[in-house]
Amino acid sequence: MCPADRKLTNEEETAYRHAVETVLIRNGGRRLYACVYTFGCQQNEADSEKIAGMAEAMGYVICEEPDIASLIVVNTCAVREHAEKKALSVIGQFKHCKRRNPELVIAVCGCMVSQSSRAAEIKNKYPYVDFTFGTSDLHMFPSLLMERLNGGRRAFIIPPENPPVSEIIPVRRTVSYKAWVSIMYGCNNFCSYCIVPYVRGRERSRNPDAVVQEVSGLVSSGCRDITLLGQNVNSYGRGCDFDCSFAQLLDRVSSIEGDYKIHFMTSHPKDATREMIDSMASSDHIARQFHLPAQSGSDRILGLMNRGYTRDGYLETISYIREKLPGCVITSDIMIGFPGETDKDFEQTLELLRTVRYDMVYSFIYSPRNGTPAAAMDNQISEEVKGERMKMLLDLQTGISGEINSGYLGRRMRVLCCGPSRTDPSVSECRTEGGKLVLVPSSETEEGRFYSVEITETGAYNMHGRVLQ
Ligand code: 5AD
Ligand code: SF4
Repeated sequence: MCPADRKLTNEEETAYRHAVETVLIRNGGRRLYACVYTFGCQQNEADSEKIAGMAEAMGYVICEEPDIASLIVVNTCAVREHAEKKALSVIGQFKHCKRRNPELVIAVCGCMVSQSSRAAEIKNKYPYVDFTFGTSDLHMFPSLLMERLNGGRRAFIIPPENPPVSEIIPVRRTVSYKAWVSIMYGCNNFCSYCIVPYVRGRERSRNPDAVVQEVSGLVSSGCRDITLLGQNVNSYGRGCDFDCSFAQLLDRVSSIEGDYKIHFMTSHPKDATREMIDSMASSDHIARQFHLPAQSGSDRILGLMNRGYTRDGYLETISYIREKLPGCVITSDIMIGFPGETDKDFEQTLELLRTVRYDMVYSFIYSPRNGTPAAAMDNQISEEVKGERMKMLLDLQTGISGEINSGYLGRRMRVLCCGPSRTDPSVSECRTEGGKLVLVPSSETEEGRFYSVEITETGAYNMHGRVLQ
């Protein structure tokens, strides 16, 4: 069996089913609650939907109040130090819940505890945490819970070398009209700043038939917006027994009949092929949206980052996207303050923003991650310089986003209503196919439906609109 698409073994599958059944019987008749906390990226959101799905299958009712929970799972992120600190502080708060309810089981999973140093820290400093497991061990969650409920020892599982792709875990989605669908796991790229390849392991792809079946099921149950997820979706299928590239997978999922849009993330610029962009252009079901993280506009820094492309190569891909997908919304991730980044390197990044004119940029201040090559590099940049650069970048991008969005004034757009705004329930948050936020009076919209709206006001971060009859 090829390691890049290894399925669960019969033993692993039997152990999973036995544990779900055993916990369900043990909990039978009682109304027990479970809370799932999620930090980090969309991949973690998708993993948490599986954790909640398994908890439900074991008889728990999902809730948001830790005080009434019998089971708390914290799904952590390790991409930046800040994310780890936040997770540790939330875990710390559950000490009191455990004191009040000694029966409470607390589990910690995700990228942070896939690092043996962090798992050891949880073991030693957080004695009220019952067990930890990594992102590739989700299928072990019921067995770990069963063991602990049966009086077993605390357990701290570090991801194996060759983790399986599981197709038997149920997913609990909170809304019916929007869904994440993981198509692959892990990353082989080893960008020099990034912890992900160490904590999520090598790339593994799901079988295309399973992906198509899941997307078909979602579309026929009324789902309108589906995002295919992977750390680097462009390398989907690489090294697998089946023969299906990401472009071919896009062709397959977008030929399903129905009223829906497909998004995907994240693309790596070195692997974003013309074939894939052509596939996007050939189907109305694939959203005209491209998230293509550049990280830097300096070839010198891109080399140090081990990104595998140059600024010119990146710009060629952008030109091809603009040519084949007119009107496509293009966004990026930019990292600020990578070790050794000079004023000149940073100016090249600003110049990239002026050249590409992204619709939006997610900017990240570089955070050294233990065990990555960049953390050991000389010339770490001071927090003060990073802060100044961040401000310059945000000022520039806010201006560009504002200018681009002002071009939408008076235009007719199709949007999906995603429910009332948290800060102002009198308006609904609606999304264009490119992911732009349009606020529309709630009285005119119903969550989960598409609308044709006219843009009545624009700003750098959102727009306002009114429903057209
Ligand atoms: N520090 C800051 N940002 C990081 N990212 C990844 N690793 C780090 C790090 N060590 C950012 C990259 C990536 C995004 C998801 O997170 O920009 O594209
Ligand atoms: Fe990290 Fe690079 Fe992999 Fe993205 S492609 S997850 S930045 S190593």
